[in-house]
Amino acid sequence: MSTEERAMAARSMAAIGCSGHYDGKLALYDITVSQAHVAMLLRQEIVPADAAAELHRALDGLREQIRSGADVLDPEAEDVHTAIEQYLETRIGADAGWLGTARARNDLAVTALRLWIRDQVVTLRSKILALTEAMLGQAERHAATIMPGFSHLQVAQPLTFGHVCLAYAETFLRDAERISFVLALQDECPMGSAALAGTGFPIDRVTVARNLGFRQPTANSLDSVGDRGFALDFLSAGASVALNLSRFSAEIVFWSSQPVGLISLPDELVSASSAMPHKRNPDAAELIRGKTGRVLGNLHALQTVVKGLPLSYFRDLQEDKEPLFDTAETLALSLDAAVTIATLMQPNADVMRSAADIEFVTSGDLADWLARERGVPFREAHHLVTELVRLSEKEKCPIGRLPLELRRGVDPRLAFAEWPDITVEASVESRDSQGGTAPKRVAEAAAQLRSRLAEF
Ligand code: ARG
Repeated sequence: MSTEERAMAARSMAAIGCSGHYDGKLALYDITVSQAHVAMLLRQEIVPADAAAELHRALDGLREQIRSGADVLDPEAEDVHTAIEQYLETRIGADAGWLGTARARNDLAVTALRLWIRDQVVTLRSKILALTEAMLGQAERHAATIMPGFSHLQVAQPLTFGHVCLAYAETFLRDAERISFVLALQDECPMGSAALAGTGFPIDRVTVARNLGFRQPTANSLDSVGDRGFALDFLSAGASVALNLSRFSAEIVFWSSQPVGLISLPDELVSASSAMPHKRNPDAAELIRGKTGRVLGNLHALQTVVKGLPLSYFRDLQEDKEPLFDTAETLALSLDAAVTIATLMQPNADVMRSAADIEFVTSGDLADWLARERGVPFREAHHLVTELVRLSEKEKCPIGRLPLELRRGVDPRLAFAEWPDITVEASVESRDSQGGTAPKRVAEAAAQLRSRLAEF
C-alpha cells in the first residue's frame, strides 16, 4: 500500500472512530475513577509509591485545569480516556504508564459513564421535584377554582383546577421515583473487570467500588464490559419524563388557545406571529412537546445499537454517549421551561367557570341524586335523566326548573316538590370521595403531597 493510501485509511479511521470532540464531558469522571484505581494499586503494592503519588498529583492538576475551563485535552485523541493518558504522559513521563495496570478502557469507560449518569439523575430528579412543587403550588392556590373536566376533549363534568394540577403533580412525582430506580439498579462498580476477563493483579475491587460510592463491585467481568442496561434504564426513565412533559405541554397549548382561554401565559413565554400581530403562540410549550421526539429517539437509538451484540465489548458501544448526552441536556432544558410555565401560568377563573357551566353538565349529578336521595336504581335514574334532557330541550326550560307536572309525565317517581337545581359548585363539592375533585379533598390531597415531597 502506498503512503497516501495509508494516510487515507488513518484519516478515515480517525474521522469515524474519534469521540474526543464530544466525550470530554466524561473527563472529570475518568479522573475520579483513575484516582480511586491508583490509590488501590498503591495499597495493594501493585505500583511503586512514587509513581502513584505523581499520578495522583497530575490527576489533581488536570481536574483543576478542566474546572477552570482550560482546553488541555486533545480533542483529536481517540477518546477522552486516551486523551487523559496522553496528557499524563506529557506531564509526568513514563510513570504515567502505571495507570493502565489492571484496568482497560472497557471497564474504565463504563465506570465513568455510570458516575456521569448518577450526577444526571440527581440533577434531573431535583428539576422534576421543582416541577411537582410548582404544580402543587397552583393546586393549593386553586383548590376551589372550577373548570371544565374533559374526556374526549368534550366537557364531561366540572372539576377544580387544583385537582387537575395535582393530577400532573402525581404524574411528575412518579417520574421522579422512576428516575431514582435507575440509581438503585446501577449501583455496582465495573472497575476491575479490565478488558473482559478480569486481571491477574491482586486488586481490591470492593474498596474501589466503595470509594466511588457504589454498593459493591459487579459480579461478572464479561457481563460488566458489554452491559449497557444501566444506560438504557436512564434513557427509558428519561423517555417517560419527556412523554409526560409532552402531555402537559399539549394541555398548555390547548388551554391557552383563544377560543378556550382557560389560562394565560406571560408575554415572555409566547411569541408573536410574523404575519398576524394579535397572535400569542405558546412556543415554549410546543418546543417541550417537540423535543420529546429526540428523547424517545435516543432510547430507540441505543436499543438498536445493543440489540445485535453478543457479550463483551464492541466498538458499537461507543455510540451510547451521544444519545445519553442529548437526553440529559434536552430534559434539563425542557424541565426548566416546564417549571417556568407551571409557576407562571394564570388560570382565568371566570372563563373556567363559564366553560364548565354548559347546559346539562350536571345531568350525571342528577342521576346520582335520584339514586342516592330517592332510591331509584342508578341505571334507571340515568335513563330517566336522559328523558328529562330531551324534555328540557323540547320545552326550552333548564332541567333544574322543569315543573312537577312535566316531570310526572316522564315518570311518576319524579313528581315531588324539592326538585334540585344542581350547580357546578354543588357538583364539585359533592365529589368528595378519596382522590376526588371536591375542594376540601383537593386541599387535603395537596397537604399530603406536600409532606410526601418533603420526605422525597
Ligand atoms: N471510547 C470507547 C467507548 O466509549 C472506550 C472503550 C474502548 N475500548 C476498546 N476496546 N476500543 O466505547
